[in-house]
Amino acid sequence: MMCKVVTVAVAAAVAVALAVTGVEARYYHPRTCSGTRKYEVTFYLNWSSKTHPKSYPSDGNVSPATVAAHASRYQMWAPGSFASASIKSVAETGNAAMLREELAAYQAAGHVASWAGAHEPTEDGTKTVKLTVTADASTGATTVSGATMLFPSPDWFTGFYAVPVCKWGRWVTKASGWLTFWDAGTDGGETHTAADKVTTPPTTIFSIQNRDAPAFNTPVGYYTIKAV
Ligand SMILES: *[C@@H]1O[C@H](CO)[C@@H](O)[C@H](O)[C@H]1NC(C)=O
Repeated sequence: MMCKVVTVAVAAAVAVALAVTGVEARYYHPRTCSGTRKYEVTFYLNWSSKTHPKSYPSDGNVSPATVAAHASRYQMWAPGSFASASIKSVAETGNAAMLREELAAYQAAGHVASWAGAHEPTEDGTKTVKLTVTADASTGATTVSGATMLFPSPDWFTGFYAVPVCKWGRWVTKASGWLTFWDAGTDGGETHTAADKVTTPPTTIFSIQNRDAPAFNTPVGYYTIKAV
């Protein structure tokens, strides 16, 4: 009994000593990313009649892409979430104006560190689109999202969401992944050129990658996020 009391007393004394000397902070504080880090985000598109012979529309291309480095209090899009009005606009028409206004507002509020957008659609589905954003650890803006419409299509788009560029307290030097087919859940058309058919009620964003048309299991390309 006595022994236990002494142990507790010693432990308490050590804890006080650590707190006073700041040793605790030095030894137990987790590593964190610091400052800002610039990233080049690249969409390597690989969508053509060669890769998707059964579904590629002859005039296929992608709308002006938009990317952002943001904190968790901003979501550009995510599977299982309803498309925002701005993602609906991108996915259905390729118009990114609303998305970019939204990003500017979230940037002013401190949840988006930086964003960038292409000015023109690509000429076809096999181009490379490069954009640059800067992540900022001080505001927690250490994830990167991007979106661009697959044109023509009812509401199909491609991109990536909340890809972390700070892992285990270190800035990531390169992240990459497939660009696949996503359905915004707002238009029920089943083919690239189907007439508008509002999905009532709308559904959440879902993948149309692992089924037949339009993906036939072949991604539309891949993306990289490289520290520069
Ligand atoms: C494009 O996709 C095809 C089919 O999936 C693949 O064989 C080819 O290597 C890809 N090309 C590039 C440049 O990624």
